[in-house]
Amino acid sequence: MRTFVAEQLTAVFRIVILIAMSLYFMISMNVGMTAIATAPIPFILAYSIIFRKEMHEGFRRCDEEEGRVSSAVQENLTGVRVVRAFANEGRERDRFEKLNEKYTGMWVHMGHVIGKFFSTQDVLCGLQILLVTVFGAVFAVQGRMTSGEYVAFVAYNGMLSFPIRRLGRMLSEMAKAGVSMDRLAYVMNSEPEHDRPGAVDADMTGDIRFENVRFGYEEGHEIIKGVDFTVPHGTTLGILGSTGSGKSTLMLLLDKLYELPEGQGRITVGGVDIRDIRTEHLRRNIAMVLQEPYLFSRSIADNIAMAGDHMDLAEVEKAAQAACLTEAIDGFREGFNTFVGERGVTLSGGQKQRTAIARALTQDAPIMVLDDSLSAVDNQTDAKIRASLEERFGTATIIIISHRITTLSKADQVIVLEDGRITERGTPEELKTAGGVYQKIYEIQLGLREGGAAHGE
Ligand SMILES: Nc1ncnc2c1ncn2[C@@H]1O[C@H](COP(=O)(O)OP(=O)(O)OP(=O)(O)O)[C@@H](O)[C@H]1O
Ligand SMILES: [Mg+2]
Repeated sequence: MRTFVAEQLTAVFRIVILIAMSLYFMISMNVGMTAIATAPIPFILAYSIIFRKEMHEGFRRCDEEEGRVSSAVQENLTGVRVVRAFANEGRERDRFEKLNEKYTGMWVHMGHVIGKFFSTQDVLCGLQILLVTVFGAVFAVQGRMTSGEYVAFVAYNGMLSFPIRRLGRMLSEMAKAGVSMDRLAYVMNSEPEHDRPGAVDADMTGDIRFENVRFGYEEGHEIIKGVDFTVPHGTTLGILGSTGSGKSTLMLLLDKLYELPEGQGRITVGGVDIRDIRTEHLRRNIAMVLQEPYLFSRSIADNIAMAGDHMDLAEVEKAAQAACLTEAIDGFREGFNTFVGERGVTLSGGQKQRTAIARALTQDAPIMVLDDSLSAVDNQTDAKIRASLEERFGTATIIIISHRITTLSKADQVIVLEDGRITERGTPEELKTAGGVYQKIYEIQLGLREGGAAHGE
């Protein structure tokens, strides 16, 4: 688009003035000849316009293919460890090679298309000049035009045909810029999140209720199939369930990271539908540790202090302490200023998780969600973190998703989710002997039973 604006758009004035002036002089010299000279111009322009469509389509395909090639490169660079671990370099190189060849082929094809367009256009313009030269000569011989006028007319016609040809090329450039414009517009015009009119900053220290919640990411493919539960304020809810049963989805819905469509049930906090709560307010009051902790390429302190604008180090240290991270940080040469690298490559999985927990703790929110956030820490640390959470969040509502029974054992209430439905609910004590999935996993993890179930650890 920049190229188009800088190189083509500025030429428009020159082209318009050239055409207008040439036409003016030509008409003032000989109207009949001007009519002959301009007769082919609509055809030349029409040809350009028809061709523009084909080119637009071609450029769009090239652009999309370029996107595929660059995402393949980006994926391979960020996932280089996976590629190497699977000794997959050769296959990935082949895949890139193939994509790249396809992309190259597309441009070669476009080269042919553009070549065809330019050469045909040149022929058409050449014919127009031929027309003027031949008819002008006839006119001059017949005496309807002096030979001086003839020479001048041919010269002016040259000045006319150059900008016409240029206009055609500009159309092709416009097709290219149009594609970029469409792709930019796709991003720029995507609808931003907005609150309902009259959205409130509701009190977030009430009970959390899911009422007959149904949700699917895609039309006709329901993931959450009617879920009902209440988490009284200040209590802890544990969620257990096989992979893909929809646990994370429930939490994303609670945080409005996906909007629950109208008529698909309700989620309320303190009796207020979260659709009517200002999104920023809602998220500030839910400390969410997502299943895949994402760290930024900044220092550990900066990663922890993300929730606030001006957080002092004491606060960061306190959160790190509660997340059992201090020891690890003390082991780093630069302590809290240790740079964690892109996506936290320099940290262990458990350190990453604990950094994410510390980050959530700084939020000091009345609701905390831990989505499988203790999976990469050992049992002892797990217990320590939960104890410090309890201490710190005596009054908070906590939702813990976990595959580990010990993590869930201190919860006030546990629900078991299977395929988007709640199949068991009760206190950990009750579920231990209820004869369901919870009991089975409990026995496997306690070593009372042989593994083999999806939850076995
Ligand atoms: N963004 C998405 N688009 C489409 N489908 C999705 C998306 N995210 C998740 N799913 C699908 O929704 C289902 C539930 O996913 P979800 O992440 O809620 O499972 P989960 O219970 O958290 O599993 P896990 O224990 O492995 O974390 C899965 O079948 C998954 O394939
Ligand atoms: Mg999950």
